[in-house]
Amino acid sequence: MPARFLFLFLACLSSLAVGAESGRGLILRLESGGEEDARLARSVALFVSNGEAVSPFLRAGAFKAKWEGKLVLEKRRRLVFHLEGTGEAKLLIDGEVLVPAIGKPNRSKRLSSGEHDFVVEYLPPAGGEATLRLSWEGRDFAREPVPESAFGHGSADPELAKMMIFRHGRNLVAERRCTACHAGSVVPAMAELNLKGPSLDGVGKRLRQDWLIKWIANPMAVRPSAHMPVIFQENAEESAAHIAAYLSADAPGEEASFAATPAQVKKGGHIFHEQGCIACHTLDRKGDADRIGLGGVRMKYRHGALKDFLRDPAKVHQGTRMPTFKFKEEELTKLTGFLRSLVNDPGEAIAVGDFKKGRALAKSSGCFNCHERKDEKSDLQAKTPLFSLKGADCSSVRYGFADLGEQKSGREAIEKFLAEKTNQRSLARSVAAEFAERQYKILRCTACHTRDGEETFRDQFAPEVAHLQRPEAAPDEEKPAIKVGPPPLTHLGLKLRPEWRGKLFAGEIDPKIRPWMAAKMPAFPSRAEGLAIGFSHSVGKSGSSPALAALDPAKVKIGQAMSSVQGGLACATCHGIADNPPIAVFEGEGPNLRDAGARLSREYFHLWMSDPPRVWPGTIMPKYASDGKTPFTQHYEGDATKQFDAIFEYLRSLFQP
Ligand code: HEC
Ligand code: HEC
Ligand code: HEC
Ligand code: HEC
Ligand code: HEC
Repeated sequence: MPARFLFLFLACLSSLAVGAESGRGLILRLESGGEEDARLARSVALFVSNGEAVSPFLRAGAFKAKWEGKLVLEKRRRLVFHLEGTGEAKLLIDGEVLVPAIGKPNRSKRLSSGEHDFVVEYLPPAGGEATLRLSWEGRDFAREPVPESAFGHGSADPELAKMMIFRHGRNLVAERRCTACHAGSVVPAMAELNLKGPSLDGVGKRLRQDWLIKWIANPMAVRPSAHMPVIFQENAEESAAHIAAYLSADAPGEEASFAATPAQVKKGGHIFHEQGCIACHTLDRKGDADRIGLGGVRMKYRHGALKDFLRDPAKVHQGTRMPTFKFKEEELTKLTGFLRSLVNDPGEAIAVGDFKKGRALAKSSGCFNCHERKDEKSDLQAKTPLFSLKGADCSSVRYGFADLGEQKSGREAIEKFLAEKTNQRSLARSVAAEFAERQYKILRCTACHTRDGEETFRDQFAPEVAHLQRPEAAPDEEKPAIKVGPPPLTHLGLKLRPEWRGKLFAGEIDPKIRPWMAAKMPAFPSRAEGLAIGFSHSVGKSGSSPALAALDPAKVKIGQAMSSVQGGLACATCHGIADNPPIAVFEGEGPNLRDAGARLSREYFHLWMSDPPRVWPGTIMPKYASDGKTPFTQHYEGDATKQFDAIFEYLRSLFQP
């Protein structure tokens, strides 16, 4: 019962995760040129290209790495561990060397249930790529990367605590753009520092003047999670009115009327429900610390501008966290109709501002330090360089660090980060794996996906949009539909070939892979490349795939026979294969296998085939192999690995770029 086993396993471990003293994953300690760093790691995996730094806090060049923590087993098991990569490494359990070197797995070792001290030490080669990956296999499961859920660590670690605060401070300084005014000699390489804020070109045509006044006067009052600081500490409304008048000089005179039919509004609500918007948004005006309220969009966007935003959110704001859904024009009409129906407020009388005063204020108060506008330049440059600041409390602009409970620690983190002068270099370094992991949280991939068994936000907030559900999607008791959400991301870095993953994040995969699933994978165009590479590095793999070997025709033939319905494993029952639709979809469908050879890494294909329910708990795809054999002995004497490899070769032959 592998699926049930996995659930039990995760359930046991989650009790460990909530314990006050510990958390999931391992502590990774790094050392280079006499400097040290520590961070949490989901598992033992590392990829560092030649000449790059292993950590933003360390110099590029020779380093040492050590993963430390507990291996947690829910029952006694026999295990084999493998280390692969370049350089030298060893694995110790309970102080005893179990794997002495890369490529030298241990003989199957029995380990008792409970916690074991766990250490992996690593020295990269003198030149070239530094890569390391750990996998394990047991009697009832084939070789796989050891999941995060198998590891725990103590929390009372001063070095880790210190570096976590530095990382938090570094992220905030980048996210809140302190460098826009306090540049000093910072050379920005950290990817976030190079993402632009919203453009103020033509902003008066897009946004309503009364909204601009409120926003400029106090962004946090409009959106509690705003990243833009309060610019004016005194006479804020008045200054904001002047600037709004200046920004609105090219605004259209009359607000064009916009009327969606009730049917369009209703259908827009269905789209809102299906796409999981509620994971990142609320339906009221205000929103909360994590989700952005959409109830007030009618008071913000002028006619047509909301639709333009939804069509391509990154167009005016490169750094936006709002993903691109690639909606069709008619979907955009429905969705905008729905959003505009949420709150209908006539708005307030506009305070009359002065264009000239507004322009001068905009230039002198720092608007153009963070925003671009054609032919405008900022007159403001703070005198104090970033790493000479005495703290986090800016005397010129006000950030909401103290207003949100969660962000009190943010103020402290900035303070400590800036107090350590050598941290300046960390802004000039970029580490792809850390970027991807950070963005995983900032972009809220968990909105729609599970990883290591976490609940998704779209499921968590589903009750708030239950009334928007499309009626035909209501449960049918005669024919219970199996509810499958978007694919889990537990093996994110391993599953897709990085080139395909990059295209997916850029929004270039069309048609979608799972046409039966209403939800789409939205695009993150400004960050696509960094994410694609970073997720590979975080599992110890290069960000580009090795060149594909030529197809082996004999293997292709066997693979085709193995997957056929007559005398084979009948893959076509549930999977479409190229132009042939699946034969008999009873409980659910699998992706068309035409693309599988180009999408999936060979390694992941084997992992999946060896035990689908272990990889995706609850999947209906059966497990074909048991003890390395399938029941079909006519090829390779039933050797499952060889048979699966032949099937993969066949799938590769199907792909026509
Ligand atoms: C993964 C999280 C996420 C999902 C899913 C998401 N959004 Fe957003 N959305 C955001 C964030 C974050 C912003 C704020 C953008 C910014 O300022 O950078 C935003 C902004 C917006 C705005 C502009 C709000 C304003 O005040 O200007 C609209 C409208 C919007 N989203 C609609 C939607 C709709 C409709 C969906 C579903 C189809 C959706 N979003 C799904 C994260 C998300
Ligand atoms: C420290 C950087 C920073 C400064 C300085 C700044 N802004 Fe912003 N501004 C932002 C960010 C970031 C956003 C995106 C929303 C968010 O996350 O807060 C934003 C959003 C906006 C928006 C909404 C844009 C949209 O399309 O939704 C307007 C308008 C705006 N700023 C105007 C101004 C004006 C006017 C000034 C000067 C008085 C100013 N900003 C100063 C960072 C800044
Ligand atoms: C819109 C421009 C702008 C942004 C953005 C900005 N500051 Fe400032 N800050 C100033 C100006 C102007 C001063 C006045 C003193 C000066 O010129 O150095 C100042 C002063 C300060 C001071 C007091 C000066 C001292 O002697 O220590 C601190 C602390 C500070 N800023 C921290 C920050 C931090 C932290 C951030 C980012 C979270 C930030 N600032 C973002 C413009 C800005
Ligand atoms: C609004 C919901 C949503 C958000 C937010 C989201 N995804 Fe997805 N994602 C999906 C859906 C739905 C699919 C499946 C689409 C299909 O195959 O037709 C998917 C597919 C994927 C796939 C392909 C997996 C496969 O097996 O085909 C990857 C990889 C992925 N997402 C990664 C991410 C990452 C990383 C993030 C955060 C940066 C993210 N997703 C954010 C909904 C989302
Ligand atoms: C009982 C139905 C069923 C059968 C039979 C079946 N599969 Fe699947 N398969 C699925 C489902 C369901 C999924 C997961 C769906 C998803 O990824 O959205 C899946 C997923 C896959 C994937 C990963 C999909 C991807 O691209 O992300 C591969 C590869 C695959 N199957 C290959 C096979 C092969 C090869 C066979 C025959 C040996 C086979 N399947 C037989 C139902 C089936």
